[in-house]
This record gives sequence, structure tokens and C-alpha cells, in this order.
Amino acid sequence: MELHGKVVMLMLNIYLFLTMFGFESYWVNGASSSNSKVGCYFIFGDSLVDNGNNNNNKGLARADYKPYGIDFSKNMIPTGRFTNGRNIADFIAEFLSFKNYIPPFKNTRGWNILKGVNYASGAAGIRDETGMTQGERTSFNKQLDQHNNIISKFNELLGSKSNVKTHLNSCLYMVNIGGNDYLNNYFMPLYYKTSVQFTPQQYAIALTKQLSLQLKGLYEKGARKVAIFGGGIVGCSPYAKAKFDHKGSSCVDKINNAIQLFNIGLKSLVKDFNTNFGDANFIFIDVFNIALHDTSSNQGVINRDNPCCELRGDGLQCEVNGKVCGNRSEYIFWDGVHPTEIGMMTLATRAFNAQHPNDTYPFDINHLAQL
Ligand SMILES: *[C@@H]1O[C@H](CO)[C@@H](O)[C@H](O)[C@H]1NC(C)=O
Ligand SMILES: *[C@@H]1O[C@H](CO)[C@@H](O)[C@H](O)[C@H]1NC(C)=O
Repeated sequence: MELHGKVVMLMLNIYLFLTMFGFESYWVNGASSSNSKVGCYFIFGDSLVDNGNNNNNKGLARADYKPYGIDFSKNMIPTGRFTNGRNIADFIAEFLSFKNYIPPFKNTRGWNILKGVNYASGAAGIRDETGMTQGERTSFNKQLDQHNNIISKFNELLGSKSNVKTHLNSCLYMVNIGGNDYLNNYFMPLYYKTSVQFTPQQYAIALTKQLSLQLKGLYEKGARKVAIFGGGIVGCSPYAKAKFDHKGSSCVDKINNAIQLFNIGLKSLVKDFNTNFGDANFIFIDVFNIALHDTSSNQGVINRDNPCCELRGDGLQCEVNGKVCGNRSEYIFWDGVHPTEIGMMTLATRAFNAQHPNDTYPFDINHLAQL
């Protein structure tokens, strides 16, 4: 018993030694797509990047049932990703040449946390009340608390404060939050007061202000390479088009216009942070613009209007054990609001290697990772 315990301790020590000194060469193996110096990757956000944090939650914002994950692995077991296969965070981990996807906070154990943690939670928002009609979820503020908790464990694992600082400074931080502050807040006037309290312009300013305090906290905890994803073309989703009058327009313009105001705020936030925090780099991923100048037809996508899966009553997500379309590669929308794997891949690919001058600002994730 005692010997066994000592052997385990020794192996753990060897592992820590290897991760401290050989971490990058082990996890980032040269890479054809990138010369990334990033050996750790933290993910914050909502359902576009959640990979299992809402599993078994009390509530509706979950993807731990069929048909979610139908193309993720051969056994077709749902993982908690809100799509048929891999999500944006998964693709970026692949582009960075990580050997494994970043584990959800819910499943992290021991030394695993050194490579990074995924805190993202479906229905989460910048504002704490966002998504309350969807039940249990982890708001961005709570995700930041979880991160502080994880960091406190780094002191034990890495020995000294300066080791911890060096490690945290080298990580990539991805933030994809804000879409639910519109869809699951501002544009649900029966349940939330924000649309009477704020004009769209005022709301965008209020959200950006709150986010800037939250991101400052992340910076103070060691984040130096931060990619902030903007809001997408939510007004073109099957959910929005079924729920709101769109007056002959192909999308719900009032939703898209409101989100564009938020995106303008995010871009100027990034500009300010890069001016005020000279030792850090923040970038903005213009998801809206990427979707507008969509290149997914090159991959064979032909259906941009209908969801691939049969929707449940609320029009947001798939019906439990519901039907799915025959060829998932031909659809951009998986359910009422989330892209298919091919849609996720398009967004992630252009966030990583910008193809259009407005895809990213001031540069793409590949460039950020090499700094
Ligand atoms: C599915 O659609 C894609 C894109 O159009 C096409 O390349 C592929 O061959 C299709 N797969 C099947 C099994 O029909
Ligand atoms: C790209 O960004 C510039 C500067 O913000 C803007 O003037 C231009 O209209 C944008 N182009 C497209 C195609 O979105």
C-alpha cells in the first residue's frame, strides 16, 4: 500500500517535471497549420463552445441527449456539445495541435488543468439573469470565479508564484459570450425588463461596459492572449425567423442590428485594451461578418434556412430522440440556433486564419498564438 502510494507520487512528480519543462514539445508537435507557442487554452462562453458543463443540469440548456453529438464519435453518444459534431473550441484546439480537446470544468481533475479548462455553459450571458428561463447555467461571472479557483490549484502544482504567472501568461483565452444577452434576455420581453430599460444602443453600451470589467479581471489573473468572439447572425436563425415578424426581409433585422451595435462596442473595447494594457494582446473575431461573407458553400452547404434536426416546442433545440436530416454537411443550422459541425468549422477556420480583412481585428488567432 505504502509503496504503491510512493510510486504514484513519483510518477506524478515526473509528470509535473515533464509538463513544466517539456510541455510545449509534447503537446504542440510542430504543427503544419501553426507555429503556436500556446500550450494551454482556456475557454469561456456559451453553447457555441460548451462541451459538457451543462450535462445533467436542472433545466433546458443541455445537449446531453440524442441526436446531439451524432457525428462526434462512432458510438454517437452525446457529449454535451450543442451541435452534431465538433464545436468552435474543438476546431481551434485541433488547429493549435493539442492532442486532446480541452476538458469541461465539470470533469477536470488534478494535473489535467495545466493544459486548460473549458468553463463555457449553454444559456450563459454577460448579465447574471440572462438565460434564467432555460434553468441551471453558469454565467460569465461564475465562470470567472471557477477560473480563480482553478488558478489557486496551480500554486500547488507548479510550485512558485512566478512559475504560475509565466504559465498563465502563455495561455490562449477564448471568450464567446453575449449572444444570449440578446436571444435569452433582451428579445424575450415577457421575462426580462431590459428592452424597456435600454434602447439597443444603450444596451450594447451597458453590455460592453460590464464585459470590460470582467475582462479586466481576467487580465489581472494573468491572461495576455485573449480572443473575443462577437455576436453572430442570430436574426437569421430558424428560431428567430419562426418567432419574429421579419417583414419580407430574409432575416430579423432588429435582432441583427442590435447585435451589430454590440459588435461595434466589442471592437472598440479591443482597441482600448490593446492601448491600455501594452503587455497583452486582445483580438476581436467578427463572427457576424464571417457569416455574412459565408464560404461554406465551398464545402457543399446548400441549406441555410432550415434546421437539420426536428425542433422541440421552444424552437431553440432539437426534440429528444428527434429526426435529423440525411446529410448534415448540406445544412448550416443544426437546431434552431446552433450551427452544424460544418458551420462551426467555417467560423473556427476563419477565426484562426482570416480570409477576409474584416474577419478578425487587428489579427487572427494563429498570429496571436505565435506572439
Ligand atoms: C453530403 O453532402 C456533401 C456536400 O454536398 C457531399 O460532398 C457528400 O458527398 C454528401 N454525402 C453523402 C453521403 O451523400
Ligand atoms: C470592413 O471594415 C471597414 C472598417 O470598419 C468597413 O468600413 C467596411 O465596410 C468593412 N467591410 C465589410 C465588407 O464588412
